[in-house]
Amino acid sequence: MAIEMRSCEEIFVPDRKSHRAACAPLSWASRDSRLIAEGYFETRVGSGTFVARNFPEQLIALSRPSETAPSGVRRVAKRGSLYPRYANETHNGGWGAFGVHQPTLDEFPFQIWSSLVTRHSRNPRASVLHNVNPFGSERFREQICFYLRTARAVKCDPSQIMVVSGSQQALDITTRVLLDPGDSVLVEEPGYSLERTVLTAAGCRLNPVPVDQEGMKVAQAIRRYPAARAAFVTPSHQFPLGSTMSATRRLLLLNWAQRSGRWIVEDDYDSEYRFDAQPIASLQGLDANSRVIYIGTFSKVLLPSLRIGYIVIPGDLLERFASVRFALDIFPSYLFHEVLADFMGLGHFGRHIRKMRQIYSSRRTVLIESIQQMFGDQLEIHGAAAGMHVTVTLPSRFDDREIAVRAARERLWLWPLSPCYVGKERKQGFVLGYGSTPESQIPAAVKRFHSIVMA
Ligand SMILES: Cc1ncc(COP(=O)(O)O)c(C=O)c1O
Repeated sequence: MAIEMRSCEEIFVPDRKSHRAACAPLSWASRDSRLIAEGYFETRVGSGTFVARNFPEQLIALSRPSETAPSGVRRVAKRGSLYPRYANETHNGGWGAFGVHQPTLDEFPFQIWSSLVTRHSRNPRASVLHNVNPFGSERFREQICFYLRTARAVKCDPSQIMVVSGSQQALDITTRVLLDPGDSVLVEEPGYSLERTVLTAAGCRLNPVPVDQEGMKVAQAIRRYPAARAAFVTPSHQFPLGSTMSATRRLLLLNWAQRSGRWIVEDDYDSEYRFDAQPIASLQGLDANSRVIYIGTFSKVLLPSLRIGYIVIPGDLLERFASVRFALDIFPSYLFHEVLADFMGLGHFGRHIRKMRQIYSSRRTVLIESIQQMFGDQLEIHGAAAGMHVTVTLPSRFDDREIAVRAARERLWLWPLSPCYVGKERKQGFVLGYGSTPESQIPAAVKRFHSIVMA
């Protein structure tokens, strides 16, 4: 049954006349009665209206608007200092070359998308409007489940899927469920800084484990950090260096988790785009003991501003995840879930991925050729086989942050590599996104990049 929807104006302001009346300045009479009701004034029979007798003068002074900075003790939680200072970094300043996490917009099927948004806005199903389910829309979870089973070899059923606000919320909820303050965790070095933010804010101790062409050095991690309670990894496409975790290391990691009761958090943020072969199957799909919490997102494959991601949760942890999620934001917003359920179910999602894979593959080829032409062997290219970015490393005499600041002044967005490290040993370089830069503009952008680096 369709629900009859009315515009906000109709709901809140039935007609123009009463709207004007509601917005008109209060008359003295009605102002007085409000101040009496709020206890500022009192009436004395036969005498009139007066400032309330027991109204403390100092409170009046305190409530006057102040033009100076707020004063007095203003204590806030100490744990707030565990969060790194929020600053919109220069390299996030704009759209285009070489912004990271920026998909192609000109090829997005906005026509289809907007017709689905309109359909679900005009005729929302009553069941979704009052669906207080911390896991999200059932229809949508079925689609995600089908997709993950077929495209990512994830072992799951729809009841194990929780839809969240991007991978970031997935990492946060997962950390709240699995870890206590003081717990040690294995993280990739270099790695994804927003994952570290979540772990640090939760009071966890980060154990950085170097990565090479086979992903995280698992044997070294197990030897060096026996107390670690969980490992956070990007096995399909390591962020930021781009390697794929080898089968041997995957099995070693799963064995470690199984043997000693640890957890693995798999962040599978962009594995849809693989150019040298079929996408690599998930680590979760190899797990025979439900030790992996699998996290995915629509940020790369569709749009980051959708803020939609998902967690595949082992069956025995479902209740814990539901409790945490319910306390955080009760349940997710429904509209885009419904839209995406149709977008996937009608085949648009699969078509979009196939089309984007070709576009990104061409952009990637042009980018790599341009870099090789301009820089020769002055820099090294990493992780070009998948995703929407490549990473380049520079000799240690370069300062990637300083270069990124200069580049941003010329509207070239260079994400520096060195802040992706926890330890002191850091490589200098850049994560170069090519998702939002048309092929024809890439050579010129690389030329500008070269002149900025070499200036
Ligand atoms: C390693 C990694 N994980 C996850 C994400 C996606 O985050 P979200 O889904 O919160 O947009 C990104 C960036 O897009 C990333 O680089």
